[in-house]
Amino acid sequence: SDAELDARIMAAKATLGDKVVILGHFYQRDEVIKYADFVGDSFQLANAAKAKQDAEAIVFCGVHFMAETADMLSTPEQAVILPNLAAGCSMADMADIESVEACWAQLEEVYGDLTATDAEGKVPVIPVTYMNSSAALKGFCGEHGGIVCTSSNAKTVLQWAFQRGRRVLFFPDQHLGRNTAKAMGVPLEQMPMWSPRKPWGGTDEKTLQDARVILWHGFCSVHRRFTVAQIEQARLNHQGVRVIVHPECPMPVVDAADESGSTDYIVKAIQAAPAGSTFAIGTEINLVNRLAAEYPQHTIFCLDPVICPCSTMYRIHPGYLAWVLESLVEGTVQNQISVPESTAVPARVALERMLAARP
Ligand code: 13P
Ligand code: SF4
Repeated sequence: SDAELDARIMAAKATLGDKVVILGHFYQRDEVIKYADFVGDSFQLANAAKAKQDAEAIVFCGVHFMAETADMLSTPEQAVILPNLAAGCSMADMADIESVEACWAQLEEVYGDLTATDAEGKVPVIPVTYMNSSAALKGFCGEHGGIVCTSSNAKTVLQWAFQRGRRVLFFPDQHLGRNTAKAMGVPLEQMPMWSPRKPWGGTDEKTLQDARVILWHGFCSVHRRFTVAQIEQARLNHQGVRVIVHPECPMPVVDAADESGSTDYIVKAIQAAPAGSTFAIGTEINLVNRLAAEYPQHTIFCLDPVICPCSTMYRIHPGYLAWVLESLVEGTVQNQISVPESTAVPARVALERMLAARP
């Protein structure tokens, strides 16, 4: 029963004390979030994993790529645990290292030697990977002068990249890439798309030469559900509603919204609003429902009337949390996420570039 699970988790947590720290992403369900020592967006959780050096184990309630990142940023002695190994991310799976390498080889055919600098000291292409990607892709970026970004620092990271390269190859999320570059003034015709199934999709030579941001054909299955019609409906039903969407939403949705921002941006916007505000939010339902409960002085609802949880985030069930914690009490580390050093060394380079990048 829920009460039994609760008692087991609380008992294991009490026994382990400071030896374990539980990190939780905003999209986790409430039954998991209530045990987290720290809750945040993917950027904040990466920083937290790096900072919590005293804990022997980091139990990561989130998805696989986040746990990999935590492993690479924590100390070698610390074990990072993902309570359910099936908690992946469908977007992260849309770019694998073989496809990215194939794309890179094609870029070399189009733009020549990708390590050669021009008169301004810029290389032809800088690879930028969204945090929502495997450690291997972060390693690729580290090895090829590139960097990692999250939805909360994508603009700063693209500025970093444009200081060093003429163009950016952005993977896997086409929407975050397009929305961020567009907000920075990059015209849409300078953002061709590359897809493993249909490389370049018939893009002509001139477009390739003019390209500023080469987008990857990836998307988030949760955020692509939001539509402009939902925004129109929300405005019709709620006068003065503030519409905020996550930048993983398609461009027309971001353009139609009042604001767009990472999960942390959404949380802070709601925290700072005067009582009695109305918000229509375009992001994962667990976060939206929690905010609605935590801020009863506002009216907060999800743009999508059909419940849309992230199905992989949802795979972290309290039962798995109880199991990994009780195993730690018995001295056994279950479901450890351990990135091999050959991948982690270059991936850390790309991650550290991101952590050091400033607006
Ligand atoms: P942030 O945590 O960066 O807002 O990203 C949302 C997301 O999709 C995480 O998978
Ligand atoms: Fe991946 Fe989308 Fe789920 Fe985030 S919300 S973990 S991007 S599927």
